[in-house]
Amino acid sequence: MARSPKKQPVAVISGTTRGIGLDIAKALAKEGYRLLLLNRTIRRQAVEWNRLLGTDAFEVIPVDFRSFESIRQAASEVQAQAPSLDLLINNAGGIYPNNTGKTPSNSLNTNLVVNHLSPFLLTLLLLDNLLATSQGRIITLVSAVHFGAGWATGDFDFAAPLKPLEAYANAHLASVASICKLGSLLTGQSVTVNGFCPGRVATDLRRTWLVRRPFRWFGQWSPLYWKIASRSMATPKVAAETVALMATDRSFDKCNGRYMNQRREWCAPSGAALSVVLQDQIWLESKRLTGLSDYSDSLGSTKLNA
Ligand SMILES: NC(=O)c1ccc[n+]([C@@H]2O[C@H](COP(=O)([O-])OP(=O)(O)OC[C@H]3O[C@@H](n4cnc5c(N)ncnc54)[C@H](OP(=O)(O)O)[C@@H]3O)[C@@H](O)[C@H]2O)c1
Repeated sequence: MARSPKKQPVAVISGTTRGIGLDIAKALAKEGYRLLLLNRTIRRQAVEWNRLLGTDAFEVIPVDFRSFESIRQAASEVQAQAPSLDLLINNAGGIYPNNTGKTPSNSLNTNLVVNHLSPFLLTLLLLDNLLATSQGRIITLVSAVHFGAGWATGDFDFAAPLKPLEAYANAHLASVASICKLGSLLTGQSVTVNGFCPGRVATDLRRTWLVRRPFRWFGQWSPLYWKIASRSMATPKVAAETVALMATDRSFDKCNGRYMNQRREWCAPSGAALSVVLQDQIWLESKRLTGLSDYSDSLGSTKLNA
């Protein structure tokens, strides 16, 4: 009897224009995935993507993570193209200066929206599609800066005025806490969710915020400083290889609600992220702010207020 051809697995990756996301797309293209690339800027034409990825099995879907409306539109597009989804990589992220600290559609801090609330919304909107496959995986890029987040005291407020790096750290704490919470809700289901901190990676994000700004008094020398400093950092390709491993390695089938560091070790996230009380508070507030208050946490019978 002729065997039916194996279905090509489908992966959604956000933020693939550059940095770690671009290398994740290349790595997963090599693994044979059909890619749905969720990008804000159209930097390349299809022919250039084709050359970069070595495949024509991809689609670029426009999205701006500053807007929940845009996330909902992108999620509908993904649902139309891939009723069953094997992999979701939440990679898009950034650090936004204070003067652009408001999203176009609401009054929340952009750093919290882009780095936590929008990936949170996208994940829950696509959960039914991930549950439709035999082994769905969600991998979210997070940061060890969550260990020093101000919200670790339990006193969190999504509307408070915060400096960009403070808001970025809080967003990552909220993300890690939500991964732990979603992991517990997914126990016994066919989908897993895990976080990955890639460590210090030589990308635009680090060059702009974590090197150039603190060392801007170097003036014209800052490119030289970056050249030297980036030698001690991982390349985006190395970080992407770990994500591809987390996506494909069968030995991770049962890993769920966990945190991996840049040395590819599963380790404990911060005590705050592990606090069930904080997890529940952040989960409820994130649902409220993203318009998912009616979302049922009893998975398998997901009810979306889309
Ligand atoms: N680099 C590090 O050392 C490090 C460490 C820990 C965690 N991380 C995390 O790793 C992830 C990737 O970071 P990276 O270092 O690769 O950064 P990057 O080089 O600055 O790339 C960021 C990606 O996110 C996209 N993005 C930013 N804002 C967006 C928005 N509003 N809507 C849609 N897409 C948006 C960018 O698209 P555009 O080209 O359109 O701006 C770009 O594709 C981030 O979540 C970051 O927090 C990085």
